[in-house]
Amino acid sequence: MKLVTLRDILGKAEKGGYAVGAFNANNMEIVQAIIESAVEERSPVIIQASQGAIKYAGLDFIVSMVMTAAESADVPVVLHLDHGTDFSQVMRCIRHGFSSVMYDGSRLPLNENISITKKVVEVARAVGVSVEAELGKIGGTEDDVSVDERDALFTDPQEAKIFVEETGVDALAVAIGTAHGVYKGEPKLDFPRLRKIKELTDVPIVMHGSSGVPDAAIRQAVELGVSKINIDTDIRQAFVRSAVAYMKENPDNIDPRKILAPAKESAKKIIREKMRLFGSSGKA
Ligand code: 13P
Repeated sequence: MKLVTLRDILGKAEKGGYAVGAFNANNMEIVQAIIESAVEERSPVIIQASQGAIKYAGLDFIVSMVMTAAESADVPVVLHLDHGTDFSQVMRCIRHGFSSVMYDGSRLPLNENISITKKVVEVARAVGVSVEAELGKIGGTEDDVSVDERDALFTDPQEAKIFVEETGVDALAVAIGTAHGVYKGEPKLDFPRLRKIKELTDVPIVMHGSSGVPDAAIRQAVELGVSKINIDTDIRQAFVRSAVAYMKENPDNIDPRKILAPAKESAKKIIREKMRLFGSSGKA
């Protein structure tokens, strides 16, 4: 199947009261795990690559792997850039065949964030690519994007309204108390803020830093209008823990396939659970 955009799948998700998982991929096994999970769950899916993943695997490799995987899949697949912080990088991804991009100008003053996001939307729209942008600062550390947790600033609903009206983005990532990476305590989400943002913007809302968020909080966020949920850390943990466990039991193993095949299965288990939790299973 040809790649689709956020526009193609998030409107349906909003109407249907579910969210679509956006899973980060760094290597072939994780790309395969994401696609196989989507096919087995009959779920639409977003495969996203961060700037760090692109640096690691190479832009051409990421695009080729996802295209190959998507061609044989009979469910909708989006190839999305996660946290593009540089206009040129975003343009390169569009040129190489990404069907969706995130421009993250959340560290910039509002006016600058609006003006660069607007430029991205203008180009992306002309070539049928969807755009996610971010307002407010999501705490934690993510490849190449590090925000001191103390400076993490929640999204202002009124600003969100202006931002969405001025830029015309297809989806908005908001800061409502989630953080990238492993949580030290239980995250406390600001649901009244989320409700207000949704009321004022009426655009699909994206929740970053969703690994480690309790299931009940995820369900509530989906009810309040979150329709794209980003998961990276939970997959990394499952993948690496499985590889480490295999090597502990088989210290003399020298075959990478023996380590990576069970690691891929562990990643699939997590991804399939998330698809069920988000309500996207059976919606493709
Ligand atoms: P986690 O690593 O916390 O799952 O966050 C992923 C994310 O938001 C990617 O943009």
